[in-house]
Amino acid sequence: MKNQAKQSVLNVKPYIPGKPIEEVKRELGLKDVIKLASNENPFPPSPKVMRALEAAASSINRYPDGDCFYLRSEIAKRLGINPKQIVFGNGSDEIIVFAAKAFLSPGDEVVLAKPTFLIYDIASTIEGARLFQIPLINFRYDLGRMKKAISPRTKIIFIGNPDNPSGQYIRQNEFEWFMDGIKDNVLIFMDQAYFEYVEAKDYAGSIDLLKRYKNLIITRTFSKLYGLAGLRVGYGIASEEIIDILNRVREPFNINSLAQAAALAALKDEKYYLSVKSKIEKERKLLYAGFKRLKLDFVETCTNFSLIKISGDSTDIVNKLLSRGVIVRDMKHWGMTGFIRSTIGNNQENKKLIKALETIL
Ligand SMILES: Cc1ncc(COP(=O)(O)O)c(C=O)c1O
Repeated sequence: MKNQAKQSVLNVKPYIPGKPIEEVKRELGLKDVIKLASNENPFPPSPKVMRALEAAASSINRYPDGDCFYLRSEIAKRLGINPKQIVFGNGSDEIIVFAAKAFLSPGDEVVLAKPTFLIYDIASTIEGARLFQIPLINFRYDLGRMKKAISPRTKIIFIGNPDNPSGQYIRQNEFEWFMDGIKDNVLIFMDQAYFEYVEAKDYAGSIDLLKRYKNLIITRTFSKLYGLAGLRVGYGIASEEIIDILNRVREPFNINSLAQAAALAALKDEKYYLSVKSKIEKERKLLYAGFKRLKLDFVETCTNFSLIKISGDSTDIVNKLLSRGVIVRDMKHWGMTGFIRSTIGNNQENKKLIKALETIL
């Protein structure tokens, strides 16, 4: 069958997700396993979300509202935008796929960082695009080289802000400098999956950027701070023109009814998620203190994960952590040898990680 598949699809290096907890328990015969490999939220959804899910469950014999009317209206109201400026995705991942499908033809060019979130590469490669991957400098985007890589065939520039795995954000003045002179027929795809965690005043993260740059799309998700990764709901915000294009490649019922109900309830429970955010910030500090005590170098981030430098083989460390019931990500697959990436867990999980690292190292 392989020779029947499209060459561009065969060119894709399959995405290796973080191993699920149940799989590790089964395979290694372990009872206590924690997952710090997928930048999930360790805290459970709010009680209001659980109630909304229960209420919505009785109607799952019906197809969902393909337009996500209530969720769309709530987001539009909060952001002060027209509801037609929003497209929903089965996770914000799916909006990356929409953009690639809608804008890229074989031979078109895409500019992105290296390393960056792998889905930009996968979605673009499937469409037969040529990738211009610009290495990070000291974990930050080299916007100068990214700008120089733009050609008349460039269709999309992906900017993870903050990005994964680096955990670094783009500053407002850097972004303005970058955008200056870029033609507005190049789609600037700004992925803000982790924006809720960023506290920096100079973060280029405001929705107001859309007023100034008509070729910009910003994506956000309910998978990270709102802890709904398992339900898959994200959204993109852009001009009505861009949203209309992306909606044409969207499957009509891509957001299930439970996901819509949960996301709406989560948005309305601001108090709960502010407390989750402050717990994660507190845990981040404790984790950093633990790394320092173990004399481990790490990259400070504005997100809910960080890179840790490992002397020796990262795969060996990742496997040793796994055998102690701690799942983290080996960055070797992303071209960062000597690094692992770990999510900020709850207090118990972080203590388990530090203890396991201490034993292994
Ligand atoms: C930078 C970045 N963008 C997007 C996503 C995907 O999030 P979602 O669950 O909304 O598809 C992730 C998930 O890890 C991510 O790290």
